[in-house]
Parts: sequence; C-alpha cells; structure tokens
Amino acid sequence: MSAKYVAEPFRIKSVEPIRMTTRREREEKILAARNNVFGLKSEDVYVDLLTDSGTGAMSIDQWAGIMHGDEAYAGASSYLKLTSAAKDIFGYGYVQPVHQGRAAEQVLFPLFLCAGKYAISNMHFDTTRAHVEIAGGRAIDCVVPAAKEPSTRAPFKGNMDVPRLEKLIGELGAENVGLIIMTVTNNSAGGQPVSMQNMRDVSAVCKRYNIPMCIDAARYAENAFFVKRDEAGYADKSIKDIVSETFSYGDVFTMSSKKDGIVNMGGMFGVKDGDSPLVLKAKANCICFEGFYTYGGMSGRDMEALAVGLYEGIEEDFLRYRIGQMEYIGARLDEAGITYQSPVGGHGVFLDAKAMFPHIPYYEFPAQVLALELYKEAGIRCCDIGSYMMGNNPDTGEQIESEFEFARLAIPRRVYTQAHLDVVVEALIAIKERAHTIKRGYRITWEPPVLRHFQAHLEKIEE
Ligand code: F0G
Repeated sequence: MSAKYVAEPFRIKSVEPIRMTTRREREEKILAARNNVFGLKSEDVYVDLLTDSGTGAMSIDQWAGIMHGDEAYAGASSYLKLTSAAKDIFGYGYVQPVHQGRAAEQVLFPLFLCAGKYAISNMHFDTTRAHVEIAGGRAIDCVVPAAKEPSTRAPFKGNMDVPRLEKLIGELGAENVGLIIMTVTNNSAGGQPVSMQNMRDVSAVCKRYNIPMCIDAARYAENAFFVKRDEAGYADKSIKDIVSETFSYGDVFTMSSKKDGIVNMGGMFGVKDGDSPLVLKAKANCICFEGFYTYGGMSGRDMEALAVGLYEGIEEDFLRYRIGQMEYIGARLDEAGITYQSPVGGHGVFLDAKAMFPHIPYYEFPAQVLALELYKEAGIRCCDIGSYMMGNNPDTGEQIESEFEFARLAIPRRVYTQAHLDVVVEALIAIKERAHTIKRGYRITWEPPVLRHFQAHLEKIEE
C-alpha cells in the first residue's frame, strides 16, 4: 500500500502550543514517573497518543452548542436535544446520558451479572472487564483466531468466534451467562472492526439461548465505515443506516462518547425496549451513582456538544480522512518493515512489540518497553495493551500472559497533522534499528490491586 495521506476536511482556527524536550529531559521525566507513562505531565509530551478518548478537537458548531447549554437540574433542553439525536441515530427506546463509558457499565452491569455469572465478549476493554468483576461476574474473551496473528492482514479481525461462543455457552450453561458483549470496534484486539454478518450471527445465538446482548459502542462510527468499505452489500448504504442496523442487533448498549461522539467528556447507555422493566432499575442506579436521569453526570453544555458530535462523527468525509490517517501510518510502517496489528484499526495503530523485541518475555512487558522507548526517543506518549495492562488473574494472583503485546498509538480526532505522524514513524524506525541492543524489560516494584497499569511503579531490569 502506498503512503497516501487523505487531506483534512477542515481548517484550523484555534491552536494549542506543544513543546519538544531534549532526550536528557525525557529520561529524567520518565524516571520520575517511575516508568509509567500515566505519571507523565502532559506538558512534557510532544505528540500524545496515549488515547483517542476525550482528546479530540471540537468543531465550531460544538463550541457554539456549549453556549446553548441548559443547566437545569431536571428537563433541560440540552438533555432533550441529546436524547433525540441519540434515538434518531441508534433507534433505542430509552437513552440515558452518563458522565463516561465506565459509568454506563457501573449502572447497567449489576442488572445482568452477579457471583457465578459470566460475561462473554469479542474482547472486554480493561474497565469493562473490571466492572464485570466488580459486579461479581467473570469475563471471558472470545475473539476470532485471526486477531491473534498481527501480521496476517484480514478484514473484521474484531469478530466474535461464534463456534467457540456456542461451545462456551454449552460448557458454562446458558443460565450462567449473564451478558454477551460486542465491542465495536474491538479496541483490545487492535481497534479491529466487527462485520454486520458477525453482529447478526451473535444476535441469533443470544436469541436462541435467551441471553441479552450488550453493544459496547464506543467506536460505532469507525466500525460502520469499515463495514461500508469492506463488507459486501454495504458500499451504497449511508453510515447512518449502517449504524442503525448495527444497533438493531443489541438489547442494550453502553457507550463512551469520548471517542466517536467527539467530546471531551460524556457517555450514555440505551435500552432498546423503552418499556422494559430494566429501564426503571437502570434509572434508579443512575440517580444513585451519576445524578438525576435528565443529566446523568453531564453538564447541559456537554450534552449540547455531544448532540452535535454524534452527527459529525458519522460524516463519511470525516471518517475517510480519519481512517486515512491510520492507513498512512500503516503504509509507512510497512515500508520500514515494522509490524503491527494488520490492517490498521479505526482509532489507532497497534504496534507488535513481540515482533520488535522477540527476546523480551511477556513478564518483562515488551509493549511497555516500546512505549517507554518512544517517549525517550521523541516525546511521544503511547501505552501498553499487553501483559502489563492485563495484570494478574483475580483468582490466582498470577501474572496473565496476554495474547498480544501491543503498544497502541491511539490517534486523537482532528488534532494531529501528517507531519506529527511522520515524527512518530521516524522515531519508530530509529528504535527498530537498535531494538536488538535493548536486552531486558521491566519489573514491577509496586502495584495496586485493580487496574494496576495506571499507577504501578516499574524498574528497568539491569542487562
Ligand atoms: N469500552 C471501550 C471499548 C473503551 O475503549 C473504553 C475506553 C470504555 C469502554 C470506557 O469508556 O473511558 O469513557 O469510561 N477506552 C479508552 C481508551 C479509555 O483509551 O481506549 P470511558
């Protein structure tokens, strides 16, 4: 593939200065952060690819919406605007704003899960897994085997492995499976899309066994773009129609709106059947954890911005440019012989750290090694999506060996230019050239019991 960049369908009206540091400064900063990228100050980062979540640039219409925010505690017009946009796009009878995606999980999951119950997903995101466990359940990932071969380019590597799903249901007993979660796109597998056929097949399994299906819909618009581009029969459908069909297969959805909703804070959940008794229970949880149901933890102005962002996020020109950024990075990495989860994902490029450092074992965290090298090389911040992030088995306390060791370059929406992406690729080329000289990884010197990767302290193992 050629490294062709799709030009931005916008121009820039407001700028935010960033600063390049020296290598020596960065070595000091990362040591002070105990080799944890989450401990760095943003001002010490040049290109911040830690996440695409809440880091996007809002449009003039979204900023204008901020001024229209109705901050009434109950019945705000901003709430009505947001829920009417969400119902129009997703087609669910009940839609509830919450402050971010994990709040939706906290409110909804206890209604489906408790001790002894399982959630099966094409892959759980880390907070999703945590909320399954907090509700007392256990999380099982069931992605197609193709996802586990980063260098094999295949479409829809985010799909659920349907035969294995049925086998798991048989082994666990359908009555013990509280929820089947379809994460679109599949973040942990590399932002890989899920096909419409797979949504249809999983939904049929859910109906057959009477198990509710939840769509973890953080990146529904990017997923729809891939369906339109790569799945037979969808080329002439609008993104909005594809989104609507995707949601039609779920019973409930949880959503972090900080991704495809292009806002800095926000989330929601939905229940397809607005008359379901579930709605009353969910509202009660929402009022306890998030706030009254007409704001659910969001300010009126943020609901306004999200109502606009939901429509901007499904614009095809925007999505073509956005996925084009990922394809551009991918094509330049191909030229340099650097491997990644191929094809590129919808929100980022997931570098294959196992291939970069084949001699570093999972328990020395090769993807964390790559993330730290990138920071030291050029002030680029990205994160480990591998064994370091997976943490320890909650039952045995043993380090889990992740199927992947990815360093994720997550690309914020409408923020960085082609030249920024070139800085990233050139830093990676420099690291690849000296990768064989980096012989050992890191050990954890302190870790908290849950979601340890955000706070753990690490120390370089002497060579
Ligand atoms: N589900 C998925 C698939 C996610 O990627 C995230 C967040 C969440 C749920 C939780 O949403 O952050 O709004 O509470 N992912 C971010 C990331 C943090 O960097 O991938 P949240």
